[in-house]
Amino acid sequence: MSNTIVPPGVSGREPKFDARVVNLETVVNELALLNLGDFEPLKFKINTRKFMDEIKQFDNDWVEYLPRTDRPNNRQGLVLSNLPGKTHTDNPSLPQASLEAGHRLSENDFTSRTAVYDACTSLHDILDYFQPIGRTFLIKSNVGGYFVPHRDHPVMPRESFRVAVFLNNCAPLQYDWLIDTDRKLPIEEGRAYYINTRKTHRTISWTNDSIHLIMNIPFNNINVAKCIAKLQHPH
Ligand SMILES: [Fe+2]
Repeated sequence: MSNTIVPPGVSGREPKFDARVVNLETVVNELALLNLGDFEPLKFKINTRKFMDEIKQFDNDWVEYLPRTDRPNNRQGLVLSNLPGKTHTDNPSLPQASLEAGHRLSENDFTSRTAVYDACTSLHDILDYFQPIGRTFLIKSNVGGYFVPHRDHPVMPRESFRVAVFLNNCAPLQYDWLIDTDRKLPIEEGRAYYINTRKTHRTISWTNDSIHLIMNIPFNNINVAKCIAKLQHPH
């Protein structure tokens, strides 16, 4: 197991934007995702009871997610799709893995299925649907566990977009995912969502064992089409 400590200031990089390297396909894909909305349910609904049974065997394997020296944070991770040669307990966050590698990695480098991927058959419908996928991991937030306001991949072109599945203790009084400054997402437990994580968002848990899955889906025409094909509310 490697769980790299990231010094303060390393994880926040300046976003790069250069319109000259953006082609029309990228613009159309961005526009298509933008038109979906910020938080769109997909047809995938996970059997959360089955998932909780499957994940029990890894109870002692959760590792601190992006641990820092300058502040406490009650959150942990398990990796389902990691770098080749890595396991479910190795560096769940991109800054940790990049620091250990010595250079900035792409979300799409994390293509190798771990034991957690194999064991959680309750998730296979959605995991297999988007294959090949990028860095994919479970977050477990305990009381007070949080993500500060941030944006994921606010660049163009970007390497991936995000799909999340809320699996345990994510009810309205248990867990908050806020987007912009004031919009609390109406989460249905077990449901998969496309989330516009390019907008500023933050999360906090008011309970223990609040678990959700984050998938990085390679940003390309095929996967945008796949996402649209699985909208819970089509035309
Ligand atoms: Fe995020």
